[in-house]
Amino acid sequence: MPDAVSHLNLAEIELAAKARLTTLAYEYYVGGANDEVTVRENRSAYEKLSLRYHVLVDVSKRSTRTTVLGAPVDFPVLIAPTAFQRLACDDGEIATACAAKAAGTVMILSTASTCTIEDVAAVGGRQWFQLYVYADRGLTKSLVERAEACGMGAVVLTVDAPVLGRRERDLRNHFHLPTGVRLANVPSSGSVPTPTGYGGSGLGTNFASGIDAALSWRDVDWLCSITRLPVLIKGIVRGDDAAKAVDHGASGIIVSNHGGRQLDTAIASVRALPEVVDEVAGRVEVLLDGGIRRGTDVIKAIALGARAVLVGRPVVWGLAADGEAGAKRVLDLLRAEVDLAMALCGCPTIGDISRDLVVA
Ligand code: FNR
Ligand code: LAC
Repeated sequence: MPDAVSHLNLAEIELAAKARLTTLAYEYYVGGANDEVTVRENRSAYEKLSLRYHVLVDVSKRSTRTTVLGAPVDFPVLIAPTAFQRLACDDGEIATACAAKAAGTVMILSTASTCTIEDVAAVGGRQWFQLYVYADRGLTKSLVERAEACGMGAVVLTVDAPVLGRRERDLRNHFHLPTGVRLANVPSSGSVPTPTGYGGSGLGTNFASGIDAALSWRDVDWLCSITRLPVLIKGIVRGDDAAKAVDHGASGIIVSNHGGRQLDTAIASVRALPEVVDEVAGRVEVLLDGGIRRGTDVIKAIALGARAVLVGRPVVWGLAADGEAGAKRVLDLLRAEVDLAMALCGCPTIGDISRDLVVA
């Protein structure tokens, strides 16, 4: 098996990760809801989009740099929030933060982190905090205050998980956190009943049981009122919801179906993107995640109006394959692929990537 430095693409890094992880951890990371239709479609949707590239453009000088919510990034790929990263490597979220800093991009830290907000923030670089809203609003508010106090640059409110989707792999494996790995920022509430349909997997008792299924637009107003940080809404797949989010104070939208882990047969995220971009009409930035595995996927999402994209599983595969170096390798491969695709599309800068570059 080649080491992480010699892997040629993200698929090879996933294979290396699979070889190192327990079945319980690998299947938690790779899996999706029910029949995993949306997991597959998030990927296959990119294969159905073709690139109408330009020729005879001087591409001898190129730049993948851009900004996201005003923050400079070396390339338009951010790290999506993913839970329980110490299942992938000992340093968990701290290793991810180091890789993000070295690669010049933003890491989004999950509420369900296995390292503390403060320890991850101490790494430096650019970080945003992903928020799950607990029925206990005092606890929720304290999470936001801690993220703000540590210098995190935004709050990402996840809205597609009022209850957890049904991941049958986790049910089969009786998913639980191994001894020594715990939720570092929220108390685990083992005695609270599991969400409907999730009995048998420890994900419910460990984590999801405190999350508020009553979350609604009013809570977006509340969140915007308790923080000075910009709030992005993650998990939107419709133009009308995106417009509402902006009306309720959101500074950004993340088009996402949670990597196919929540509602199975949900629309592939890249298919939902144009409608959201049209409805938002430039009022706030629109980001996207789900199924990004190649530089050409990034170009297509940007052509369809995304300011930047996020990657979830690939970073976890990097962590499992080779810790911080593996996560960095994933980001480096993507950056190189974005640069190459830009050159071959006749787009020397991110600003040159326009909608007419993509056809269905
Ligand atoms: C996630 N995702 C997620 N989202 C979130 O807002 N908070 C979280 O804690 C998690 N946890 C999580 C764990 C794992 C193992 C996965 C795979 C995903 C969703 C994540 O942010 C993102 O939307 C998807 O992962 C994007 O799809 P890809 O890049 O994994 O295909
Ligand atoms: C997941 C939750 C924790 O997707 O967001 O596993």
